Amino acid sequence: MSYPSKHLLAIEGLEPPHIADLLDLAESYALLNRSGKTQRDLLKGRTLINLFFEDSTRTRTSFELAGKRLGADVINMSVSTSSVNKGETLLDTASTLNAMQCDLLVIRHAQSGAPALLSQKVDAAVINAGDGTHEHPTQALLDALTIRRHKGRLEGLVVAICGDITHSRVARSNIHLLTTMGSRVRIVGPPTLIPADAARLGVEVFTDMKAGLAGADVVMMLRLQRERMVGGLVPSAREFFRFYGLDADKLAVAKPDSIVMHPGPMNRGVEIDSAIADHPTRSVIGEQVEMGVACRMAVLDILARRLPRNR
Ligand code: NCD
Repeated sequence: MSYPSKHLLAIEGLEPPHIADLLDLAESYALLNRSGKTQRDLLKGRTLINLFFEDSTRTRTSFELAGKRLGADVINMSVSTSSVNKGETLLDTASTLNAMQCDLLVIRHAQSGAPALLSQKVDAAVINAGDGTHEHPTQALLDALTIRRHKGRLEGLVVAICGDITHSRVARSNIHLLTTMGSRVRIVGPPTLIPADAARLGVEVFTDMKAGLAGADVVMMLRLQRERMVGGLVPSAREFFRFYGLDADKLAVAKPDSIVMHPGPMNRGVEIDSAIADHPTRSVIGEQVEMGVACRMAVLDILARRLPRNR
């Protein structure tokens, strides 16, 4: 197994074999999960701490489930950062975690770079579960696994990532992963929600939704991340839906067998029409959640192999 690091902080920097190996291992966990079997000896005696400074449903519970399915002792810590100096809190937290002899630390934080900072201060292997607008590497892995299961490959596929790209760590991690694996990535959204550095990312930029969706194999919708917006970048939810919301009419220009994805949480009627979100053949949103558990098991497994045996 070729994985190059003690931590998983970002997709950027990983090479195709690293990603392919992680996806292959995740695929085997997806099959194991479907068979109803577990592998509870793999992380036996290991401590996994979920440290969430931001809300989460899917990501936190799937890391918890992944850790438990592999036999780790899992502890969930939810921390509010409302009134404290974030730098100080993080470093204080690091010494607490070291004292607890945590082996695997999953962290979500509103500030980009927080997991990288913490990784320098703790003994544990650190997994980034979303940091600010920077990256959300396990989301990109689960998205890639879901795509691969439906399309058989990543190379050469046209993937349209649509909506609020600027504020989305999901978009950033997906762009890195998919371009690394040879997909043709388009980003589609209003000019106010397209990042200034888009050209550097190796993607095609579209501000017209139908032009961006034409011939796409994969349509990935993103939530409007209003909590990260400064000022009014979008007129109104209704107007946003009219121009950029995914409905049957807009989806009709994508490939007839294209799949529709969303990392959740969804705003129905804003970026996606309910009929599309719940579409029995085109929507793979439920499968994304299932693959999330498998991918997180693979990541925990890979990182645990590099941990010292006796702490
Ligand atoms: C995303 C996140 O938190 O970055 N959600 C998730 O992890 N599934 C996307 C979002 O919040 O819109």
